[in-house]
Amino acid sequence: MNLIKVKNYEEMSRAAADLLLAQVREKPAGVLGLATGSSPMGLYKNMAESGADFSKVTTVNLDEYCGLSADNPQSYRYFMNENLFSRINISMDNTHVPDGMAANPDAEAERYEKLIEKLGGVDLQLLGMGHNGHIGFNEPDEEFVAETHRVYLAGQTIKANSRFFASPGEVPTSAITMGIRTIMQARKIIVIASGNDKTNILKKALYGAITPQVPASVLQLHQNLTVVTDCLE
Ligand code: GLP
Repeated sequence: MNLIKVKNYEEMSRAAADLLLAQVREKPAGVLGLATGSSPMGLYKNMAESGADFSKVTTVNLDEYCGLSADNPQSYRYFMNENLFSRINISMDNTHVPDGMAANPDAEAERYEKLIEKLGGVDLQLLGMGHNGHIGFNEPDEEFVAETHRVYLAGQTIKANSRFFASPGEVPTSAITMGIRTIMQARKIIVIASGNDKTNILKKALYGAITPQVPASVLQLHQNLTVVTDCLE
């Protein structure tokens, strides 16, 4: 594991953006796996302001809420359009997010998994981490789920993510997420984590037992993992 310790959110955002931009320079027609949440917002701002050329880049996002359409400001598709895609020269046709409005979420998950395969896999996957150690929306569970799938969200996740909604009752209860194998197959993985509230879970994920109860702990097995964080001394 390559651990990059930084002082604060701004430094994390700059350092992680540099890594993604280096990847785009190295492989201009590569596939980036992207994440949502508050962790990557600064990073996306830096990427947008870099003036880098994204014209040949393809992106696949980790996850999407079921029941939210692309024009719903709480959807991850909307988040990505606002925070990154509309601010860089990427072709929108090359940006992929699971379809939260799919009538059959299981079929959509299968389509998404195949799409990633067809694209030749993910060159670099960016990950945030939930307070319970979830990655994408792979929640703590009895076992790891390998492929892209529909997941019912943990109470803690609904509560944590309700800060983006008018009330907890409005947070969708299910989502479509890349699975653990989908994520682990990425050739490189970058995890970003910022803030005291992430310290405990980050330590557990990086140095604790590898268990589906802490989904991010599986990342210890990845051969090209970089963690950029202000959580560790
Ligand atoms: C959501 C997303 C995750 C993300 C997590 C952490 O649940 N599905 O991909 O990592 O939030 O969010 P934040 O970065 O806001 O702490």
